[in-house]
Amino acid sequence: MSYRVAIIGCGMIAGYYEDFAVPATYSHAKAYLRNGVFGELGFYDRHPERAEALAAKAGGKAYDSIEELLSSFRPDVVSVCVTDDEHFAVMEPMMRSAYAPRLIFAEKPVCTRRDELERLLELQSAGGPVVIVNHSRRFDTAHQRIRELLARRELGEPVRVHVDYYGGWRHMGVHIVDTLQFFFDGELHIDRLDYACGSKYVDDPTLNVEGSIASATVRLDGFLEDFYQILDMNIMCEAGQIKLTDFGNRIDVLRKTVNAEHENVLELDADCSGSGMNNPICNAVDLMAEYLENGDHCLLVPFGMEQAAKTMNVIWKGSDAYQS
Ligand SMILES: NC(=O)c1ccc[n+]([C@@H]2O[C@H](COP(=O)([O-])OP(=O)(O)OC[C@H]3O[C@@H](n4cnc5c(N)ncnc54)[C@H](O)[C@@H]3O)[C@@H](O)[C@H]2O)c1
Repeated sequence: MSYRVAIIGCGMIAGYYEDFAVPATYSHAKAYLRNGVFGELGFYDRHPERAEALAAKAGGKAYDSIEELLSSFRPDVVSVCVTDDEHFAVMEPMMRSAYAPRLIFAEKPVCTRRDELERLLELQSAGGPVVIVNHSRRFDTAHQRIRELLARRELGEPVRVHVDYYGGWRHMGVHIVDTLQFFFDGELHIDRLDYACGSKYVDDPTLNVEGSIASATVRLDGFLEDFYQILDMNIMCEAGQIKLTDFGNRIDVLRKTVNAEHENVLELDADCSGSGMNNPICNAVDLMAEYLENGDHCLLVPFGMEQAAKTMNVIWKGSDAYQS
C-alpha cells in the first residue's frame, strides 16, 4: 500500500535546507522519502516559491492553497511545519474538512493557547484525524533507553537535574519539559521563574526556572543565543549520572563505584553511552506507516495530543506565573 503525504510550511524542518544526499535525516520531507510506504508528496507554503523549491527537491507537487491540497491531492497524512503561532490556524480547519487526512504530524509546540488545545482535542475525539506531535526525543531510541534505565531506578533515585538552554521558555523550553516528563513519567512542578535573557521570539524570553520532578530538584538556566545555541541536560541520581549534551546528540551514563582509596566516584559506562538523536524523525515516520497499515491507535498514544497537553500545561503554568 502506498500513502499520500502533504507538508504544509516548507521551511527548515520541512526539508528546505537539508542535504538529501547524506544519510543523516532531520526533516519531514526526507524522512518520508526514506520510508518506502509514502509514494506521493504534496506541498504548500504561503510563500509559493518555497513549496515549489521543496517539491522540486523531494519530487512532488506544490499546491496553491491548503484547500486545494486537501481536496485534489487527498493526503492520508499531513505534516504541519508552519511557524509556532500558525499551527492552530492550519490544523483546526483541516481537522474539520471533508477531506481531512487520517493522521496529522504536527511540529511542536502543538499550539500556543489552552483554548486551542481544547478545540483540537475535541475535534480529534469527534472522529477527526489523529494528531501526533514531533517532540523529537520521544521518537529517539537512545532517549527511550534512558527513560527505561530511569524507570528501573538503575542509578538509584534521581537527586538533581540541571539544564542549560537557549531560545525561549515556550519555543525551546517545551523540549525540556517534554523530555523530563517523558523520562520521569510525571509532572514537572515549578517553584520559581525569572528572566534570564531574550530570545528571537519577541514575547518569549528565555527563563531561569526552579522546580522539581519525581524526587529530583530541577534547575533550568537560560543562555543568550547571541553567544551560541545550547541544550545540555545533566541528571544526577544517587548512584550515577546521565549527561545529555549537544542537544541530546551525545548521551553519557556514569555509574557510581568505589575506588582503591575507598572514595565514591563515577565511572563511564561505555556500553550505555553513545550517540543520541539517531534520526528520530525516521522512527516517527515508520511508526505512522505502521499505524496507517494496521490502524492500531495504541501505537500513537505516547506521542499524541494527550501527552503534548501535559507538556503544554506546564509551559502555560510557567508563563502565567512569570507574567503575574
Ligand atoms: N521538533 C523539533 O526539534 C523542531 C526543530 C525545528 C523546528 N521545529 C518546529 O517546526 C516549525 C517550523 O520551524 P522551521 O524552523 O521550519 O521554520 P521556518 O521559518 O524555516 O519555516 C516555516 C515555514 O512555514 C511557512 N508558513 C508560516 N505560516 C504559514 C501558513 N499559515 N501557511 C503556510 N505556510 C506558512 C513559512 O513561509 C515558512 O516557509 C516550528 O513550529 C518549530 O518550532 C521543531
